[in-house]
Amino acid sequence: MSVAAKIETLRRTLGGRLTIMGHHYQHQSVINHTDLRGDSLELARKTAGVTSDFIVFCGVFFMAESAALLARPGQTVCIPDPSADCSMALMAPATRVRRMLELLGTNGRKIIPLAYVNSSLEVKAVVGEYGGAVCTSANAKTMLRWAMEQGDAVLFLPDKCLGANTAKLLGVPEEAIMALDIRADGKHIDLAEADKAKLLLWPGHCCIHTRFTLEQMAAMRAAHPGARIVVHPESLPAIVDAADAAGSTSFIIDYVAKAKAGETIVIGTEVNLVKRLAVEHAGRVTVLPLLETECSHMARTTEENLLELLESIAAGKPLHVVQPDTALFAPAKAALERMLTVCA
Ligand code: 13P
Ligand code: SF4
Repeated sequence: MSVAAKIETLRRTLGGRLTIMGHHYQHQSVINHTDLRGDSLELARKTAGVTSDFIVFCGVFFMAESAALLARPGQTVCIPDPSADCSMALMAPATRVRRMLELLGTNGRKIIPLAYVNSSLEVKAVVGEYGGAVCTSANAKTMLRWAMEQGDAVLFLPDKCLGANTAKLLGVPEEAIMALDIRADGKHIDLAEADKAKLLLWPGHCCIHTRFTLEQMAAMRAAHPGARIVVHPESLPAIVDAADAAGSTSFIIDYVAKAKAGETIVIGTEVNLVKRLAVEHAGRVTVLPLLETECSHMARTTEENLLELLESIAAGKPLHVVQPDTALFAPAKAALERMLTVCA
């Protein structure tokens, strides 16, 4: 029997006891086995409605952690490969985030941290403790507006690109934005300058989305006259400015769905999603990647490790259970729930 057939057999055996969730960047061979799909915001929202005993999360670790925070008591959340991290999330270690918040608040300013969901549970806990919230690419504008109303300034982390792109949407003047130098415990930060800023940007980025260039865009426009380019807002601000549209993975899916027959849409995001859209819309819309770029972290989930995980669940010994630290659970959940409340 093939691996795919074995997975489907186990899904039938486990029935209503199991829900498999998957992010849009998962490989098609994995997506085929999912019950629920979505962008980060949709997956967080959908978790709340899941009633099965087991949630298997096909995505990166911070997504599974968010599911574990939002799961019901007694539910078990597992991930096929717990080493599926997100390099951007790793760019903001919790101890450093806390240190920067302490430093930036030295002169009594109220700094509200706004953490992109692509951050660790430890970071979300610090953010929750400081009265901040989580955001995703789908609601960053709403959440940044909210955060700016809560204190004197916002520390947006870890994605400087999403922070800058969102600030532009809200019309935050450039002189009110400061890029933070987090090296050497913040000793290079000019506190007098920082005190004038309304938005402080953590220097993190996504290695996949910052590969897009203006030259690639120009080459695509030259090769495909009339094509529209849509990118994910983790892309560099110059790329977002030069694109026809920018938005979360679900926004991109919707953008292609709404394209007219015969159109060409060039997409700047992780290639597994682009390939899926190309297949789904073949014959109606031409879908092309701006650049073929795969997230190696997302790719850690495979049919093989998904099968191994389902076998362990069926045997009553679930592997790779995501168990948030009890001390961090409440503040991290508070940060996540603030987002769900503001964006209800
Ligand atoms: P979305 O929330 O838009 O799905 O993005 C998640 C992500 O990791 C993008 O790199
Ligand atoms: Fe993280 Fe970038 Fe991969 Fe998204 S695409 S999970 S931000 S490394």
